[in-house]
Amino acid sequence: MKADKLLINFSQIFCPIDKGHPLRGAEMSEATIIEDGYIAIKDGKILEVKAGSPREELMGKETEVIDCYKKLATPGLIDCHTHLVYGGSRENEFSKKLNGVPYLDILAAGGGILSTVNSTRAASFDELYQKSTRLLDEMIIHGVTTVEAKSGYGLDWETEKRQLNVVKELETDHDIDLVSTFMGAHAIPPEFKGQADEFIDLLIEEMLPKVKEESLAEFCDIFCEKNVFTAEQSYRLLSAAKKMGFKLRIHADEIASIGGSKVAADLHTVSAEHLMVITDEDIDRLSEAQVIGNLLPGTTFSLMEDTYAPAKKMIERGMAITLTTDSNPGSCPTANLQFIMQLGCFQLKLTPIQVFNAVTINAAYSVCRNEKIGSFDTGKQADIAVFDAPNIDFPMYFFATNLVSQVYKNGELVVNERQRV
Ligand code: NIG
Ligand code: FE
Repeated sequence: MKADKLLINFSQIFCPIDKGHPLRGAEMSEATIIEDGYIAIKDGKILEVKAGSPREELMGKETEVIDCYKKLATPGLIDCHTHLVYGGSRENEFSKKLNGVPYLDILAAGGGILSTVNSTRAASFDELYQKSTRLLDEMIIHGVTTVEAKSGYGLDWETEKRQLNVVKELETDHDIDLVSTFMGAHAIPPEFKGQADEFIDLLIEEMLPKVKEESLAEFCDIFCEKNVFTAEQSYRLLSAAKKMGFKLRIHADEIASIGGSKVAADLHTVSAEHLMVITDEDIDRLSEAQVIGNLLPGTTFSLMEDTYAPAKKMIERGMAITLTTDSNPGSCPTANLQFIMQLGCFQLKLTPIQVFNAVTINAAYSVCRNEKIGSFDTGKQADIAVFDAPNIDFPMYFFATNLVSQVYKNGELVVNERQRV
């Protein structure tokens, strides 16, 4: 078969191994690294990825051959946990953080998430759409080709719906693929102060059915945290969502350990997020229940804490983990997944192979898109990040600089020389 495009002359091609499940434990250190290879693309999909020069049979009259000048190729990066759509910004909290005011105290005083709720409620569809587009543009130039996006800055139906519709529209309009999550249970809205149970009732009885009816989200998520939602409320919401056909996630063990991981294990959620203060017992629970740990070291960094998730221990105990930005205006204002990957090495002490597996194949499982993305298996989407780097160690070592020079989405060049095409 002739290729439409041949990307030749890579120094390394990082090929995660798709074993039919997320890479767990010791598997996270496995990968095929092709030296001096090429990638053949047909109809926007991967045709073959091999060492050496392309076979004669791949080369037709129309085949476009692109020299990749000894750069590094990896599957397009997947950011599997973001709060993409919001109004306003929160740099006004920065000096409070610097002065040691805790995140949950800022929230309890009506700031934090609730201040973004006010700005998001006040923002029009177009404002939210433009702002989210700019964030996605930043993400794609950093090598990201798929993004999970949560609602949760509306906390009333009108605004939640607006956020979810922005994601729906951007899924069509933007080169990045989007996976939508309903997170109406992100905080207790001011109208329900002291009535968290009643708010959970509203989510179950009114909002979730509407999200389902209008096909606005695939996943349901909740912030299980001290002074936010209890483990019992989380279980109630997520089990109702499961019955309605939603896939599940849960923000658990971010600041206080209050039982969120047990809820994740009991309900077999696809993933549990954060896990900064997880106990050993809960690591074993998640490992046993095969719940993916979505780790967000940028949040620990941005909150100026030193409680990084115990990633190495999780892997030693058999868990599958991913790394993701948590991109949001409060606890992690960034669009740069490469920096989060570097924190994976610098702070979580992961190896470059574990890091690249975390943001490709494991992240693909975390958004349930493993059939289409996350590795270079034949037939998967030709989503490719090209790093101006000779090997996979380099982008971890040379930190806080965007090293992605080209991005291909479904075989098309969408970023060139670090700029949108
Ligand atoms: O994942 N933890 C809850 N939600 C976000 C923070 C959102 C915000 O501060 O606006 C998080 O860290
Ligand atoms: Fe989050």
